[in-house]
Amino acid sequence: MKPGFAKMIKVGLLLCLPVYAVISCRSTYPTTNHSFAVDAGKADIAHGERLVMSSCGGCHYVASTGRLMGRKMDDMPKIAGKVYSANLTASKKYSPVPRYSDAELAYLLRTGIKRDGHFVPYMLRPNMSDKDIRDILAYLRAGKGHAAPTDTVAGHTKLNFLGKWSLHVIGKPQPYRQSIPHPQTEVELGRYLVDNIGCFHCHSKKAISLNYLYPEKTKGYLAGGAKFKKPGGGKIRGANITLDYETGIGAYSKADFRRAVQHAKAPGNRSLRPPMEAFQLTDAEADAIFAYLNTIPRVHHKVKRS
Ligand code: HEC
Ligand code: HEC
Repeated sequence: MKPGFAKMIKVGLLLCLPVYAVISCRSTYPTTNHSFAVDAGKADIAHGERLVMSSCGGCHYVASTGRLMGRKMDDMPKIAGKVYSANLTASKKYSPVPRYSDAELAYLLRTGIKRDGHFVPYMLRPNMSDKDIRDILAYLRAGKGHAAPTDTVAGHTKLNFLGKWSLHVIGKPQPYRQSIPHPQTEVELGRYLVDNIGCFHCHSKKAISLNYLYPEKTKGYLAGGAKFKKPGGGKIRGANITLDYETGIGAYSKADFRRAVQHAKAPGNRSLRPPMEAFQLTDAEADAIFAYLNTIPRVHHKVKRS
């Protein structure tokens, strides 16, 4: 390609970007007309709490207060502007949760579309089962413990053009699937947890360009490399968690794996650093993930440790 031509394309793209930004910022999406019938009597609130802490806590929980009160998102990639996660406690004044119907919340989690029709790409869980959504709702609505009413707001999200445009780079609205059954076998459960806890978000090639609907089709699935900001500066990368012996976790025993995911400790007592967390997973759940990892290809991919 002639250099002049390449330059023209670049300039063209730069000119198009704001136009595209305006178009994409304006767009709202249809809201839900699906019903989501939750049998609250059947809900497992304790399970809901573990799920919320593992799948939502990373962004909505503030450890210093012990509450799901929302915080400033410093680590959102490529966002231009300020982003604050919402208060998820039972606060009538400051939390959007009491204003959401069950169907609207199920729709938000599965598609990314808020009740006002705007799209947010942060918590796309298109494959989350009805049971899990029911348990999450039951826990949040009970308003106890970490979800006890907390009347504060961390801040209000303000995105500029580039920020709004970049939302659509991080993710796209996902199709709404109705009536999703909970996985039955150990390996299916492991695969489901890697998807819904979001392990693959951090442990694949990039934290953007994820395939939410079919996680296994994500580039560099679980072979590591995605970069994150470290608190205090510098970068840290998600590890290769395929069972490759040399570059992944092939040398882990089942017990090593439990310790890594439940206590954020690698073999040799090496502390795993944020954003890796000590997840609230039961032994059976940790084992299910390990069993699943045993079924996927061992990828030889060396990830630089920072
Ligand atoms: C990767 C970070 C992240 C994770 C994980 C996450 N959220 Fe959020 N959530 C956000 C951000 C950021 C916002 C605020 C978006 C905005 O202001 O545009 C938000 C907003 C919300 C809202 C308010 C929507 C509205 O209408 O204002 C609800 C409800 C919510 N999240 C529920 C959840 C639940 C339930 C989970 C767990 C299943 C979860 N989130 C997981 C980042 C996250
Ligand atoms: C928010 C991002 C994030 C999520 C979600 C996440 N991890 Fe991690 N994980 C990391 C990072 C970053 C590291 C590297 C930590 C370090 O080098 O100290 C890591 C390290 C690990 C390790 C240690 C590998 C080694 O170096 O020996 C294992 C095992 C692991 N994660 C498994 C999981 C599993 C399983 C899940 C889902 C239940 C998960 N992670 C979810 C970011 C994440």
